[in-house]
Amino acid sequence: MFDVEKIRKDFPILSRKIHGKPLVYLDSAATSQKPLSVIEATDKYYREYNANVHRGIYAISEEATAAYEGAREKVRVFINAQSVEEIIFTRNATESINLVRFTWGKQFIGKGDVILISEMEHHSNIVPWQLLAKEVGAELLYIPINTETGRLDQNAYKKLLGRKPKLVGIVHMSNALGTLNPVQEVVRLAHEAGAVVIVDGCQSVPHMPVDVRDLDADFFAFSGHKMLGPSGIGVLYGKKRVLETMEPFLGGGDMIKEVTKEGAIWNDLPYKFEAGTPNVAGAIGLGAAIDYLKDVGMKNIWAHEQEMAKYTLKKLQAISSVLIIGPREAVDRGAVISFALQGAHPHDMASIFDDAGISIRAGHLCAQPALAVHGVDAVARASFYLYNTKEEADRFLKTVQKVKKIFGS
Ligand SMILES: Cc1ncc(COP(=O)(O)O)c(C=O)c1O
Repeated sequence: MFDVEKIRKDFPILSRKIHGKPLVYLDSAATSQKPLSVIEATDKYYREYNANVHRGIYAISEEATAAYEGAREKVRVFINAQSVEEIIFTRNATESINLVRFTWGKQFIGKGDVILISEMEHHSNIVPWQLLAKEVGAELLYIPINTETGRLDQNAYKKLLGRKPKLVGIVHMSNALGTLNPVQEVVRLAHEAGAVVIVDGCQSVPHMPVDVRDLDADFFAFSGHKMLGPSGIGVLYGKKRVLETMEPFLGGGDMIKEVTKEGAIWNDLPYKFEAGTPNVAGAIGLGAAIDYLKDVGMKNIWAHEQEMAKYTLKKLQAISSVLIIGPREAVDRGAVISFALQGAHPHDMASIFDDAGISIRAGHLCAQPALAVHGVDAVARASFYLYNTKEEADRFLKTVQKVKKIFGS
């Protein structure tokens, strides 16, 4: 049984007061809060078995290696990858995407080739491709958003596939619009057109069951800190047969089998893409986060967030002069709600929310093209997670009313 009050007790930060009021944290799309079990797992590593991995022939190094590799197996099971060779630990999703840019991208994308991404990508799935396109002389094209519905324009996508892109990049769930994209279909069509696909799963993996084999993407990137894990740990999933065609990303220790003065032999997957001492504590913390999420159940978390989205969207839309950016109905979307209020700058709004103890995000949300096509350059965003309640949504909605009054919106 999903019990939000019980869940809340596991998150020490949620008992904090801000400006004398109980903290309402509505910025989990930026980073999530951490349960005690995650904090304790990293603490235990540093207190009891801190050592480098894959190297020491002594007890605590073996323990650290077992915990680090154990976390990799937890990630594999969590997203249903075929093998741990397909799970590469990185710093975050941004690094995961850039890894693909610097390896597969540089090897397989050349002059005149087309890279196709959507208008609703986070900057971290735009800028790497802009840089690569510039470097190799490729062309970067965008799948448009239907701004009426907040959804991808599927017909335009099908037409653009006629340009035979080498790579399609698509966000699973938009951090700016909340839109859940039909990724399985996007991937299927891209493959039919001969493209390789990278999916940005930053906002999907923390919130819903994800099966990378079902989605069939070639690459899938996400960050640990948005899914109850520590910051500084991310994941790149890649299909083994694709990873095998790729040259290493960074050079150094751990990614080699043997080094001579003349050259080196690369290590096996996934180590070939993990140069240097990894974030051992981060991986262990991410493993603990996955244990926590599985314990609650991803289906339960998704159902709770759907409920929160439905409840909040309905009441928010009823407030005149509120403009919601993204799908307005709680279908095929997450509990990430971006909005503008006539006459009120989002930064001023966020300050008023903060005074009320409510943390929301304001600004361009690292998705400037997605906002630009909607004719705005900044919005306010409330994003909900497993620990948020309807009472918190009510406090949020009450504060929207207050903002409206202050600015005469
Ligand atoms: C959809 C999406 N992609 C990518 C990122 C980048 O994540 P990170 O900063 O952890 O690399 C974010 C973070 O906000 C995101 O929401």
